[in-house]
Amino acid sequence: MKLTGKKIILGVTGSIAAYKAVYLLRRLVEEEADVTVVMTTEAAIFISPLTFRTLSKKPVYTEMFELNQREEITHLYLGRDADMILVAPATANIIGKMANGIADDLLSTILMAAKCPVIMAPAMDSEMYENPIVQRNISCLRQFKVDFTGPAIGPLASGISGPGRMSDPEEILSFVGDKLAMDKDMDGHVTLITAGPTREAIDPVRYISNISSGKMGYAIAGAAKRRGARVILISGPTALTPPSGVECIHVTTSEDMCDAVMNRLAEATVVIMAAAVSDFRPAEKVFSKIKKGESITLNLIKTTDILEEIHRKKGAQFVVGFAAETEDLIINAKEKLKSKHLDMIVANDVSLPEAGFEKDTNIVILMDRWGDVIEYPVMSKSDVADKILDCVIARVSHE
Ligand code: CTP
Repeated sequence: MKLTGKKIILGVTGSIAAYKAVYLLRRLVEEEADVTVVMTTEAAIFISPLTFRTLSKKPVYTEMFELNQREEITHLYLGRDADMILVAPATANIIGKMANGIADDLLSTILMAAKCPVIMAPAMDSEMYENPIVQRNISCLRQFKVDFTGPAIGPLASGISGPGRMSDPEEILSFVGDKLAMDKDMDGHVTLITAGPTREAIDPVRYISNISSGKMGYAIAGAAKRRGARVILISGPTALTPPSGVECIHVTTSEDMCDAVMNRLAEATVVIMAAAVSDFRPAEKVFSKIKKGESITLNLIKTTDILEEIHRKKGAQFVVGFAAETEDLIINAKEKLKSKHLDMIVANDVSLPEAGFEKDTNIVILMDRWGDVIEYPVMSKSDVADKILDCVIARVSHE
């Protein structure tokens, strides 16, 4: 297992197990990880920062308000750049602080600002570890997706034996490796995602569109990027900023969107059509503003169904469609799964208050062409994005 180039912040807190963090750092560096050490003041009583500095060949951070070379706020930029924060050893104190939203030193503040995965390797006396308050704090952090490795059971510094020993550094290392590999489970994939509405011109100043905000498609694009995929996002007009590192192609009409998808289809391994494509467009192109009369009749014709085009031209891509419904959700979505020749469909009832267009949450049912149906509770669109990608990856690798 190599961790080449992975940016890891190793947080060291004030426990006698801090000496094992020295060996852990050495092993992380041997695996080619790019490690920055952040120590609490108490940790620096057990082990000198110089030891960590020598092994990491980088400055060791302890102070909240020290100036850094980039003239940025240290706790923000350290956390922003990291692929992972590993706190080893993690005392009852740092666990309690994070679980309760306390940020009163550099490490706890970095943890508060972090967007990357956090792993903690607890180390404390058994009596502390078994305290229901500590246990409550650990389960609270697990709910916020903090992972724990250990503690192991065995003789402790206090003389008693029980749970509380920091896990063996090799065990922590393999936990870190698995976690980073899992987080990059879309490595090598090229994901083509459409998002947002399309606009069909009535005349140069008016159009037909729909209320799609693009939030679901953008969330999938961000999640796929984070999981290691190369992402091509083809977006109708939205008010959103594309996630960083994603190639975004802006389009307006359903025709533009269809062309953009077809141009890039061959590169993709996964296609996710989250856009709310207009089903109709005005039959005639009108080049001057229509003057107001008593009434006007628009002659609308069907737009090209992009998913049908994809089916016609596609190779081995895994294709996911969406079904936005207001009634008979499962029946209609099953029908679309079949008629549009999809591998998977994400069905949502857009009439529910926590689901559909413009919302930050969604309630979805995933159905695949093998007959699996998975219903999810209300979730944030970013969690829904991960569930969709979990299902895609599980199915692509079993094909
Ligand atoms: N879609 C498409 N091309 C279109 C219209 C829709 O590729 N011209 C895709 C959407 O991106 C979505 C799926 O088809 O992934 C289903 O879209 P939806 O609006 O739910 O269904 P429609 O096919 O438009 O059918 P209806 O509006 O009658 O429900």
